[in-house]
Amino acid sequence: MKFKHTQNLDNNKDIIIPCKKGKLDCLEEFTSIKNLDFEGELSTHQLIYGDAGNRIYLLGLGEEKDAVKIEEAFRKLAFNTKKNWSKSIQVDAQSLSEDAVKQAVIGLELSNYEIGQFKSEKKKQSKLEINFISKKDITIQLKEGKYTGETTNQIKALVDAPANYKTPEFLGDWATKSAKTYNYKCTVLHQNELKKQGFDAVIAVGQGSVNPPVVIVTEYITKPNAKIDIGLVGKGITFDTGGLSIKPSTNLHYMKSDMGGAAVVLGVVELVAKLKLDVNMVGIVASAENAVDKNSYRPGDVINSYSGKTIEIIDTDAEGRLVLADGLSYLIKEFRPEKIIDIATLTGSVVRTLAFSAAGMFTNNTEMAKTMSDIGYKTNERVWQLPLFEDFEADLHSDIADLRNFSGKPIAGAINAAKFLEAFTESHKNWMHLDIAGVSFGDSPYSKMKSASGFGVQLITNYVKSLN
Ligand code: BES
Ligand code: ZN
Ligand code: ZN
Repeated sequence: MKFKHTQNLDNNKDIIIPCKKGKLDCLEEFTSIKNLDFEGELSTHQLIYGDAGNRIYLLGLGEEKDAVKIEEAFRKLAFNTKKNWSKSIQVDAQSLSEDAVKQAVIGLELSNYEIGQFKSEKKKQSKLEINFISKKDITIQLKEGKYTGETTNQIKALVDAPANYKTPEFLGDWATKSAKTYNYKCTVLHQNELKKQGFDAVIAVGQGSVNPPVVIVTEYITKPNAKIDIGLVGKGITFDTGGLSIKPSTNLHYMKSDMGGAAVVLGVVELVAKLKLDVNMVGIVASAENAVDKNSYRPGDVINSYSGKTIEIIDTDAEGRLVLADGLSYLIKEFRPEKIIDIATLTGSVVRTLAFSAAGMFTNNTEMAKTMSDIGYKTNERVWQLPLFEDFEADLHSDIADLRNFSGKPIAGAINAAKFLEAFTESHKNWMHLDIAGVSFGDSPYSKMKSASGFGVQLITNYVKSLN
């Protein structure tokens, strides 16, 4: 899609007119019809025809409280009606705020996402030109919206891709290519290097797979001699069978999405580089396939980790926290970032707690929690804080190793996982963990089966932006 900005609208061409609920006076200039079956309800639309036979789409933006859902309204309209649009369409952006313009662009771009990447017959992508009409200067919003939508679509394609294509190595190649294109540094640590450097937990999780694990280290540096402002760590399990503590087969195919956290990290680094934000940032992806094999790690095994802490494996399905532990230790040792956020499809427990409505947020830093909550609300990628109480420390106890990877209890699973991660943060004051298991992948109005949501790209990118 191409986004343009002009001052004056052309009455003879197709146009989208966004309208707030009950504020339809602005339509007088387009139609003399008084009794439109349209009230401006959020995400509703009505098509009327202009004198030149051009299409006029009235698009409902709802009430003030719906302002965070403008992206969704544009996306739905485009998804459902795009096939009838001419090569170019106008958007009456005169009454839209700067943020609403950006959301509109993101929504339109997201409607371009093609989920059928693996179909033998490819759909033809039409080259649409979208012309935003406004007297204000909205160049930045058009650019930011386009970049955000494009990167989110790429991230969704990664999460929706099947595990036989999307190996850890594949994620490494993806990052390498992105780094070359957008001018940041990327190093992929392969099996031998991981062994040499002591990524024992990553190795243990990946040792049952023919697709060897990797750790991807991306660095976006704008101020060479200054501290690292923020470090991200993503869980990149390209397929989670559960390992020898095997998962039931119902819905197992969806465990291709267990690299949703990694996808967010890769997406955020790429987007931050595209937007040329003035920060020093490191993004780490710890990637492995949790497979069933004669070489798989076992329940009862004691493994080492990058930190030197030994871990008793109670359940091989609690693998995400193991690869993240090594990612966090490496990030802290090598880069000493000011702030740390890890992001992962970590537990079924968080899905039972918050369903598909918000990510679980864990941090001891109230300021970070407040900022992230506010950004989550505004980007409609909500987070909800859960506790890291000391009470839960006992659940990490192992008689034979420094700690165990699962409490063995069917309660407070998301907290147990977060407490495990906390043990690898060296009490870093500005660490946050986001459990996105419920929001990263799920039902969608745009696919018949579950699919990637792109959750996290806007949330974290805006958080990074807030550091400036
Ligand atoms: N990848 C899963 C978590 C998950 C569940 C992601 C549902 C997306 C949707 C994770 O590795 C896992 O299996 N967690 C277990 C941990 C348990 C065995 C301690 C869980 O939460 O059930
Ligand atoms: Zn698992
Ligand atoms: Zn997992």
